[in-house]
Amino acid sequence: MNQHHITFHRENGRQQTFTVPAGARLDEVAAQAGFDLRTHCGGAGTCGKCQVIVNRQKVLACRTTVESDLDVLLPDASLRMGEEHVVVQLNCCHSHESYRHSREGGNPDDRLASLDPRLRGDDGIHHYGIRHYGIAADIGTTTLAAELHDFTGTLPVQTASRANPQRKFGDDVISRIQKVMDDPAMLTAMQQLIVGALNDMIAELTEKMGITPQDISVMVASGNAVMQSLLFGIDPSSLGTSPFHAPVETFPARLGSEIGLTMSPEGTALALPIFGGFVGGDIVAGVLTLPQLQSSVVPRFLLDIGTNGEIVLAHRGELYTAATAAGPAFEGAKIEHGTLAIPGAIDRVEVVSGKITVSTIGNKPPVGICGSGLIDAVAVLLKQQIIQPGGRFTKKESHVELVPKTESGIGNAIVLTQRDIRELQLAAGAIRAGITLLLQENSVLPEEIETFYVSGGFGQSIRLSSARQIGLLPPIPTDRFVFCGNTSLAGARAMLLNPDSNETVRRFIAQSHHCELASLPQFQQVFAESMRLG
Ligand code: FES
Repeated sequence: MNQHHITFHRENGRQQTFTVPAGARLDEVAAQAGFDLRTHCGGAGTCGKCQVIVNRQKVLACRTTVESDLDVLLPDASLRMGEEHVVVQLNCCHSHESYRHSREGGNPDDRLASLDPRLRGDDGIHHYGIRHYGIAADIGTTTLAAELHDFTGTLPVQTASRANPQRKFGDDVISRIQKVMDDPAMLTAMQQLIVGALNDMIAELTEKMGITPQDISVMVASGNAVMQSLLFGIDPSSLGTSPFHAPVETFPARLGSEIGLTMSPEGTALALPIFGGFVGGDIVAGVLTLPQLQSSVVPRFLLDIGTNGEIVLAHRGELYTAATAAGPAFEGAKIEHGTLAIPGAIDRVEVVSGKITVSTIGNKPPVGICGSGLIDAVAVLLKQQIIQPGGRFTKKESHVELVPKTESGIGNAIVLTQRDIRELQLAAGAIRAGITLLLQENSVLPEEIETFYVSGGFGQSIRLSSARQIGLLPPIPTDRFVFCGNTSLAGARAMLLNPDSNETVRRFIAQSHHCELASLPQFQQVFAESMRLG
């Protein structure tokens, strides 16, 4: 087989040379060499983020094969940098309550045994080790968070978080489903990535607690339907085509070792059941942590903002659920200078003395703009009439400079482009359309919503006034909004620790109704109207 030499050059002057087989794809070569390109679309050639420079020409790494020796410049802007430091939301407004309840749950054996009949050994499998430690894990599309609990309550809870390594196959679940549909072998590859990351976190957590991974007797994972399927090695392809049915709605308990988790050989891996379609275990976890939703007579709403905007309307004792295709714009993908919530990410934008000013996470030099900053920025531009409610720049600008080159941490000015604003409109419009349609379908007016809960990775950090200004959230009184933080992790924790959780979940899932929004005849019109800012 012919081979070629590839020399990767970084902007800081460092370079490394590798020998690769002819015909290899440049993005894959870069990944094997340890360079984390921003492959937001998973190599579909549509996001333009994996741009590198070959022979002074800009090319997309994912569209380039190696046919000769090459010198490749990897611009910093095309690399995921600092994402290992992503700020992951671990807390939840109800976490202390849940945990206190769990501490009152009595004997740890009773608490474990109440999780699921399968865990009591009814199926003939002994699921417990001698010692009792368990992990609650939030397996998000973008980030992973986990907690290690000592069921006796003797040792303090330990926490860990990571960026989801599956991101190299695309930032949203649709890209990852497409990968599996194109090549079934990708299912195993993606399962191994998520299991590998969880094993890393287990190693970190157990070391912090002074125990070994073999002491872990149970893990409860909570994520969207695709992430949970990928963890359990279940093909999620049915979610890639209409009518978007989830491959399974409950996840039978598995021995952790069967799916590659490093834990007690008899340890069990569990995942929360899902509502239906894309409305996954993370939303079930959210409802579990918010008892006010579980049999609410008056309208209450839960919105989980992530790469999917998943929504629940609680009304007349029933739950109505739906998913919106928000896409990963709020996670920084598809945005020219978009980034995750890492140190240096712009998370606030405001006008001070007539000048656009930004603040960043950790007060570091600005490296990009994360979801909350993006919402703030567009709200500010709208208020300043720099953009129109339709999303177009009022004048003929192609972009607005948020941070000049001299103050930026990436050597270039940080800007917001017309395309960025369009991406935000699509994401916010999808969520707002979902809210409108779910309310309409159930004859509820926005002003009748008693409480509007917002959960999710960055839900906690968005500024309510900005979110309402751009029309992401409905115009109801401020005091009806409750920001709940990471309810996915809190729900996994509750499932791990609370005796009654399993029965509670079964009960409220039985009173739920899933709505496929895109099949509604008015969907397109409502979506188009919802893209208007304000
Ligand atoms: S264009 Fe190459 S990964 Fe998106």
